[in-house]
Amino acid sequence: MVLLFAFIGSAQAQLKTPSVSAIASAHPIATAAGHEVLAAGGNAFDAAVAVSATLAVVEPAGSGIGGGGFWLLHRAEDNFQTMVDGRERAPLAAHRDMYLDDDGAVIKGLSMNGALAAGIPGEPAALVHIAEKYGRLPLSTSLAPAIRAARDGFAVDERYRKLVGFRLKQMQKDSETATIFLHNNQAPAVGHIIKQPDLANTLAAIASNGRAGFYSGDVAEKLIKGVHQGGGIWSQQDLDEYQVLERQPIRGNYNGIRITSAAPPSSGGIALVTMFNILSGFELDKMDEATRIHTIVEAMRRAYRDRAEYLGDPDFVDIPTDKLTHPFYADGLRNSIRLDHATASSNLPGVVQNSAGQDTTHFSVLDQEGNRVAATLSINYPFGATFTAAGTGVLLNNEMDDFSAKPGAPNAYGLVGAEANAIAPGKRPLSSMSPTFLETDDRLAILGTPGGSRIITMVLLGALEFAANKTAADWVSRPRFHHQFLPDAIQFEAAALTTAQRAELESLGHQLKATNRQYGNMQAILWHKANNQIEAASDPRGNGKADTYKH
Ligand code: DON
Repeated sequence: MVLLFAFIGSAQAQLKTPSVSAIASAHPIATAAGHEVLAAGGNAFDAAVAVSATLAVVEPAGSGIGGGGFWLLHRAEDNFQTMVDGRERAPLAAHRDMYLDDDGAVIKGLSMNGALAAGIPGEPAALVHIAEKYGRLPLSTSLAPAIRAARDGFAVDERYRKLVGFRLKQMQKDSETATIFLHNNQAPAVGHIIKQPDLANTLAAIASNGRAGFYSGDVAEKLIKGVHQGGGIWSQQDLDEYQVLERQPIRGNYNGIRITSAAPPSSGGIALVTMFNILSGFELDKMDEATRIHTIVEAMRRAYRDRAEYLGDPDFVDIPTDKLTHPFYADGLRNSIRLDHATASSNLPGVVQNSAGQDTTHFSVLDQEGNRVAATLSINYPFGATFTAAGTGVLLNNEMDDFSAKPGAPNAYGLVGAEANAIAPGKRPLSSMSPTFLETDDRLAILGTPGGSRIITMVLLGALEFAANKTAADWVSRPRFHHQFLPDAIQFEAAALTTAQRAELESLGHQLKATNRQYGNMQAILWHKANNQIEAASDPRGNGKADTYKH
């Protein structure tokens, strides 16, 4: 009898569907595009195509069809979950030392600016793949809002201006980029309308011809020609061979919360699960705040050390995923944590450092059937490589900078690392992007954020807020701190640590480094299954839009 009731109970829980749909993205026009497609009869996957493509138009600093990303999908009817890997690939002509001079030193800027910095884009192929395999609307419908936004234009806001400011000098060097994204070669004023007719045509080619609209024919020819003129090394073979891959998400558990997150070539899921496994052995809620931060920082330090040592493209390197996500392995890491003293990173086996990016985007979608998408997309730095292939409107990524330009170089302690993330033809660079689902029997979270190497710790802090039963608005606004093994310092937003907490952490042996600006742009959805209430929240640091809608 008890069993029967349990069975009926769980069947009912599974049948329950959200009372409203919800979308949280980094731009109001992109959120509206997603709702438009849901209203047209699309599901969360169609909406994800619409939001991704619209962000490519209205948030060009963060992501685009010249870039890539990871889309974590959950299909409600059979609880199927997958990660669509649309990460860029190194061109086939790429090689390990391509950013080094004759003396073996890294040539500054070469993996950052211009066509040589660009990997082969994955986003166009991923959008086509998601629409055809999981969506129910034609691309002509799901891409329509993006094409419209590109033709009609969008208004420049403060954030756009700030990000242009960050990359202005480089943007001025490429006339195509300057013509489209600047005004009179300067950062456009707030309210200035940016129209992208070439990008509209490229999106329209994808809408009519699917992946061939981008990876072959006229657009492909212009892309390759433009890249070559800009000193890059793409070939038609690169475009022909680009494949979207589906990967089994990384899974873990923390105090009864089921974690589903990004698989390699993202480091996010593995690092998150390692940190949660370490933290499972502590009673964080019983600690004073400084000790709690110290403990979380020590978990971050250890997970980031492993990230740099072991992680890369799983099609090129053997990643010990089972070991790194196993609770026994975390037991060993936890045993090395002292509550009365910081562990110096130099006392852990060393590896070379990874760089952190500055811009990217995340969005979360939940439809009324219970389908969901968490997607983090990127062209890496703001405005990517600051290079646009003439006549295509496609602003190229500089994701090649996510490789280790010089792996194998011994660090200060003579140890060698990051070999796993060395450049090789056709390889995907290691990412930190961490689209994530968190689930208990009565609550579900969909979250993620941009922020380079800080992405994973932001998702960790957001997830700890979820664990503490806080609202979605709390997770996205929470002041943040971060440790990434090297540099050996706690980076923090001013509001994250009180003066007393700073003193206490320093007395434990931590170096503190206040970040001079806020970071992250988290977009989150929380579904309370018990009362079917849905929260959607957008990070107050950005100017995104989160809302719910009844269709
Ligand atoms: O894939 C990565 O990890 C980086 N390209 C992401 C860069 C990023 O998030 C910058 N954001 N602010």
